[in-house]
Amino acid sequence: MFTAISGPQTCRIDPRDRDYWAEVRSRFILEPGHAYLNNAALGMPPKPVQDSVAEGFRLMSENPSKAKRVFHDYIEGELRPAMTGFLRAKTGEIALARNATEGLYHIINGLDLAPGDRILMTTQEHPSAVRPWKVRSERDGIEIREVHIPSPLAGEDDILERISEAIDERVKVLFFCHVTRGGYLYPVKRLCALARERGLITAIDGAQAVGMMDVDLTEIDCDMYTNSLHKWFLGPAGTGFLYVNHAMQPSFSSLYAPASEPGGDARHYEIQGTYDLPVRAALGTALDFLNRIGIDNIERRLRMLSDYLRKALLDIPRLRLLTSLSHDISSPGSTIFEFDGINAARWRGPLEEEANLHVDDHDRDGHRGIRISTHYYNTTDEIDRCVDKLKEMLRREG
Ligand SMILES: Cc1ncc(COP(=O)(O)O)c(C=O)c1O
Repeated sequence: MFTAISGPQTCRIDPRDRDYWAEVRSRFILEPGHAYLNNAALGMPPKPVQDSVAEGFRLMSENPSKAKRVFHDYIEGELRPAMTGFLRAKTGEIALARNATEGLYHIINGLDLAPGDRILMTTQEHPSAVRPWKVRSERDGIEIREVHIPSPLAGEDDILERISEAIDERVKVLFFCHVTRGGYLYPVKRLCALARERGLITAIDGAQAVGMMDVDLTEIDCDMYTNSLHKWFLGPAGTGFLYVNHAMQPSFSSLYAPASEPGGDARHYEIQGTYDLPVRAALGTALDFLNRIGIDNIERRLRMLSDYLRKALLDIPRLRLLTSLSHDISSPGSTIFEFDGINAARWRGPLEEEANLHVDDHDRDGHRGIRISTHYYNTTDEIDRCVDKLKEMLRREG
């Protein structure tokens, strides 16, 4: 249950090595016949993570006093340092949370802003961020300016230019997704450099990034970053984190803790009180599982599967691929597309009911399409099956 967290795998694994990836897949307990292609919504934790949660709750019932102690020691002594290292943060910069939404609420409510201050964000942000920003804006007289980013993306430079043009002396914060809900990859490092140059705070919604590719927070150089670890990281449902760098902490307070002195600890920003210890502790098992494969191998496998999928989709008549074929502006795992003159968003139900294919609709930014999000345990056979079913759905439309 208290998994010793292994160091990252450095050996290169072939993304097409069928035996290796079949062995990895055998550690998952998805019902036979189902193809789970909706990893951007909720990841599918491997069996060891599920076992860790179950055993943890057993321990809580068998010996609560001991359980509380050992969970606390493991989370603080092993898990938090290992997560900090994995994200290349510094000690004292990671607060654990239940999900990205919780992290977003901390960020949006904790920033020191005055009436008249302006926030920049893009038109592609998630409702989990848009909603609390609207509340903060109404409550405190802060102005939110949404920078229009066209979908599909035109390119990194276009995003940079649009945001750069919108910055004026009233703008205090630049807020954006690392990877959008639909899997568009924003140029995070360049955006953070731009914000620094113009004296802005950067806060990033990383819900769709961690576990899909290497996220190095030191290299990104943002002030704040939040993520849901139950998506691509394959942690148990109800896990995430908030990163607040040391430079930011003296001017950032959460609802649970005031701004800290220099050299403080982001842990104080966490919601206080008793929490689901076995769920949080199982993050150690999830990180160990990930490290045994290696994040670079995971990213390469995701890229291989997504490239395969995107190429196959291009052969379907009337289909418009919204995701770019360029890796610069597309994330490794999520692909979105639509069909000329068809509301394909409503195919989600039939795909699941008729063919056990789990995808999501992509009903936003003017699209009525589909999102397919593949993780490393998916296979090219599952992708073929999904593409065939899409062709059948299209034939049915006439
Ligand atoms: C970009 C983005 N931000 C935030 C969230 C919210 O994540 P959660 O529900 O895990 O808090 C999501 C969920 O899909 C998302 O895609």
